[in-house]
Amino acid sequence: MKRNPTIKIFQDELELAAGFAEILIERLAYVSTGDKFSWMLSGGSTPKKIFRFIADRYIEKIDWQKTQLFWGDERLVPPDHQDSNFKMVRESLLKYIPMKKNQVFRIKGENDPVSESIRYSRLVKENVKQEGGWPVFDLVMLGLGQDGHTASIFPGMQQIIRSKALFEISEHPISKQKRITATTALINHAKEVVFIVTGPSKAAIVKSIFNTDDANEKYPASLINPQGKLMWYLDQSAASGI
Ligand code: 6PG
Repeated sequence: MKRNPTIKIFQDELELAAGFAEILIERLAYVSTGDKFSWMLSGGSTPKKIFRFIADRYIEKIDWQKTQLFWGDERLVPPDHQDSNFKMVRESLLKYIPMKKNQVFRIKGENDPVSESIRYSRLVKENVKQEGGWPVFDLVMLGLGQDGHTASIFPGMQQIIRSKALFEISEHPISKQKRITATTALINHAKEVVFIVTGPSKAAIVKSIFNTDDANEKYPASLINPQGKLMWYLDQSAASGI
C-alpha cells in the first residue's frame, strides 16, 4: 500500500453500516440537482448486510434520485441465479428503494462474457463522468476476500491488475466460476474507494495487508490506491491484528 488510507474501526457491523450510510448522505448533499452520483457496488456477504441495514434504516434519508448504481463485479449467471450479485442487491436493497430502471446498470451475467465486458464498459463510459479519458466513479465500495482479492481480482491475476481496459473476464481460483470484474485501473481512477471488512475471519488478511512490506505484490486489495480518497471501514474483530 503506497499511500496512507483513512482507517475507521467500528465496534460492530451495525455501527459500520451506519458509518457507510452516512458517507452516502454526506456525499449526496453535494450533488447538484440534475447531476448523478455514481456508486459502484460490491458483491459478497458483508456488503449484503450493509444493503439490508440501509434498506431497514436509511431509505428515507438517502437521495436515491441523484444516485446511479453500477456493479464492480458479477458472476456469469442469469440475474435470478443465487450467485448473482445483481440478485443479491435487488433483494437486499433495490426492491425497497424508489429508483427508476434507468438508474440501475447491471452487468448481464447471462451474456457472452467478451461482448458483455465491452457492452458494460461502453455503458460506464456513457454514464459516468470522465477525466483524462477514464470514468471517475464518485464512490466505489469494495469487499475483501481472505486471500486478499477484491472485486473479482484474485492474487496472481496480473493481466487484470495491469489491464488498461475498464472490465475484464476473471475466474474464481477454486470454484472456477467465471466472472466479469472492474480492473484495478478503473477502480483507481475513482474519487473515493471504501473497503468494507468485518468479522474475525478477515483479521489475518487485514493484518498482512497493513503490516507486510511486499503486500502489494501478493494481494490485489493492496493495489487499490485511488487518485481520490481511500478508506478502510473495519469492525473491531477484522481490525484485531493491526
Ligand atoms: C464478490 C465480491 C468479492 C467480495 C469478497 C468479500 O462478488 O464476491 O465482489 O470481492 O466482496 O469476496 O466477500 P464476503 O463479504 O462474502 O467475505
